[in-house]
Amino acid sequence: MNASDSDRMKATLAPLGFEESKQPDNADVVLVNTCSIREKAEAKMSSFAYDLKKLKSKNPNMLIGITGCVAQQEKEKIIQELPFVDLVMGPDNIDDLPWAIEELTHKHTKKIIKAEFDTEPRVWKTTTKLVNPGPTAFISIMKGCDHFCSYCVVPYTRGREKSRPIADIVDDVKHLCSQGVRDITFLGQNINTFGKRSDESLHELFHRVHDIDLLKRIRFTTSHPGDLKDELIRCFETLPKLCSQFHLPVQSGSDQVLRSMRRFYTRAQYMDRVKALRQARPDIAFSTDIIVGFPGETEEDFEQTMSLMREVKYDNAYSFLFSPRPGTSAALRKDDTPEHVKLGRLQVLQTQQQSIAKALHVAQVGQHQEILIEGPSKKDPTKLTGRNSQGLSVHFTAQHNVNIGDLIPVEITSGSLTHLTAKPLTLS
Ligand code: 5AD
Ligand code: SF4
Repeated sequence: MNASDSDRMKATLAPLGFEESKQPDNADVVLVNTCSIREKAEAKMSSFAYDLKKLKSKNPNMLIGITGCVAQQEKEKIIQELPFVDLVMGPDNIDDLPWAIEELTHKHTKKIIKAEFDTEPRVWKTTTKLVNPGPTAFISIMKGCDHFCSYCVVPYTRGREKSRPIADIVDDVKHLCSQGVRDITFLGQNINTFGKRSDESLHELFHRVHDIDLLKRIRFTTSHPGDLKDELIRCFETLPKLCSQFHLPVQSGSDQVLRSMRRFYTRAQYMDRVKALRQARPDIAFSTDIIVGFPGETEEDFEQTMSLMREVKYDNAYSFLFSPRPGTSAALRKDDTPEHVKLGRLQVLQTQQQSIAKALHVAQVGQHQEILIEGPSKKDPTKLTGRNSQGLSVHFTAQHNVNIGDLIPVEITSGSLTHLTAKPLTLS
């Protein structure tokens, strides 16, 4: 979501003549687009901002802006503690960026703080702008979240859920496809409830964009298991462009912890959704998010998470130590588990996950798969790289005259934790 917001910022500033500078040293404007989901991200922002202060002392005309979720939540603190910052801007105010830069550079306004949620209660009107899009792109289709899981800061930093109208998204998709995009990932904090305030739905959107000829692949993230409806599962049977990939954050395998997290589903209900998705699309790859060391998590609770991971066999799992966030109810809970115990659990879980993922990838050797070519491999430019339907990177030597954005058939020759290698099959 933040990467997509950063792309939007770049595109909003391009008409003013700004282009991306690889180094902050010679930049006229430095925007620090922050994430506040865990404490570590916030701490990184402060240390980075102090480095910028040194650069600003050499180049006093440099404008420094703090944007994103930390800016939304900590606007007063940033202004007080980082007086060299010129601009503080929340995630809902990206479209005001050109105005803010103009004010600061030409109108001699000293400081701008703009961190307000938009006032429209139902829909979110915007368009996707990208500078030089490649074969893959993100499109944000909704923002905010209504769930208030007890650990999560998102409803406070991104506000209540609002979705874009399907007609606007379809226009965005057509426009991006005309610029060469072939593989689109739709983004939302809780994408399953897309359109709930305007009587539209995610499965309706998928059917509409599936009809766009130039579009070859549809992906989406991220889903709340409690909102995962049968209509969406059926799309995996009926829409071949919908990729065999599902990010389904479970957070914990223990019902007691799930209750305390205010997740509103049980382990059994979660497993029921996994089963239904596997029935609809047998080669589907699951990924997930896990929080280790939630307040009150016992060794037994942790074992439940470990066993759930063995049961699902995730292709990928993003696992985090619980981080108390300002304004959330879990931050106030009593937490007796020592840090070293939590860290030990995280390590055990990550080791187990790595061996599951590696085995899943090695087992794909010999399979024929379709890869969408994304470009030369960063590590070895004699190779091309792309992704399979499951979203895993695949590297291969091109033997045919192929182009970026083409879908080509390959045979998998080796598998590792992070990627596959393959040889192209003859194109008919
Ligand atoms: N502590 C640790 N992890 C968190 N996440 C969200 N809030 C916290 C927190 N306070 C994780 C969840 C979520 C992912 C995006 O970040 O697993 O799914
Ligand atoms: Fe946060 Fe996701 Fe829960 Fe919403 S559903 S509060 S974004 S963890």
